[in-house]
Amino acid sequence: RKRATLGEVEGILLPSTTVNNWDQIQKFKAKDDDLLICTYPKSGTTWTQEIVDMIEQNGDVEKCQRSVIHLRHPFIEWSLLPQPSGVDQANTMPSPRILKTHLPSQLLPPSFWESTCKIIYVARNAKDCMVSYYHFQRMSQTLPEPGTWEEYFENFMNGKVSCGPWYDHVKGWWKAKDKHQILFLFYEDMKENPKREIQKVMKFMGKNLDEMILDKIVQETSFEKMKENPMINRSTVPKTIMDQSISPFMRKGIVGDWKNHFTVAQNEKFNNDYKKKMEGTSLTFRMEI
Ligand code: A3P
Repeated sequence: RKRATLGEVEGILLPSTTVNNWDQIQKFKAKDDDLLICTYPKSGTTWTQEIVDMIEQNGDVEKCQRSVIHLRHPFIEWSLLPQPSGVDQANTMPSPRILKTHLPSQLLPPSFWESTCKIIYVARNAKDCMVSYYHFQRMSQTLPEPGTWEEYFENFMNGKVSCGPWYDHVKGWWKAKDKHQILFLFYEDMKENPKREIQKVMKFMGKNLDEMILDKIVQETSFEKMKENPMINRSTVPKTIMDQSISPFMRKGIVGDWKNHFTVAQNEKFNNDYKKKMEGTSLTFRMEI
């Protein structure tokens, strides 16, 4: 089976379709009332999109389920012909727009920084992120084959995956919140207490929904509910893009699955390397809850 390849921008690996469209992406014009959901891949993007969407629609499930979630919130760096690119999609969308990106902060189109748009960044601990990314790459035909778990483990630590090193991504965005309006969330906190985190998103969006609606949003955005929803679980995406017979898009949705993948030796190697790469940052993660 023919798989997509990766290209490079400023030392960061990205899908070649993105690299080929880089000019258009960099020239993208953000608007002040945009809301940008930003993540390293596999950190809870889809979950956050659904939460934001439900809040925006005041908990109206019908309105949220009118169309497929990933088409409603264009990926600005998405570019796969013959579909319109993410930039083209975003340009024809009515405001206020909800956009998403996996770009590291240094590669974000500059107009976002020049605007007063709100940004929500969601971070997930590196070990679970690696495991989730590995399974995603096994089934996603728009990314290269991940190789064996052992090979993938090394590639992830070396940043040889699409969107570059996890370490620089989270640190870069953590720093960016000093210069821009960014709500920084953690996947582990969302799992621990979804209601509390959804409330943070609500406040950040300037909304004030009552308790009943909030509870409904908590229920509707649970892993189990979302997994069943064909507008979210990508069951409408052709096998030539995602082969979910290999691994489902909505896979496990838990904290700590890395323990089922990391050997004791790998864990030790990872921890030593992690310490070096994350030294000096105030950003910390929980690997279990
Ligand atoms: P796993 O592969 O560990 O199951 P993204 O949307 O950024 O691609 O992230 C995908 C990860 O988020 C997957 O992790 C997926 O199962 C998980 N996820 C999606 N919706 C979720 C939800 N409602 N609650 C918890 N985890 C969720």
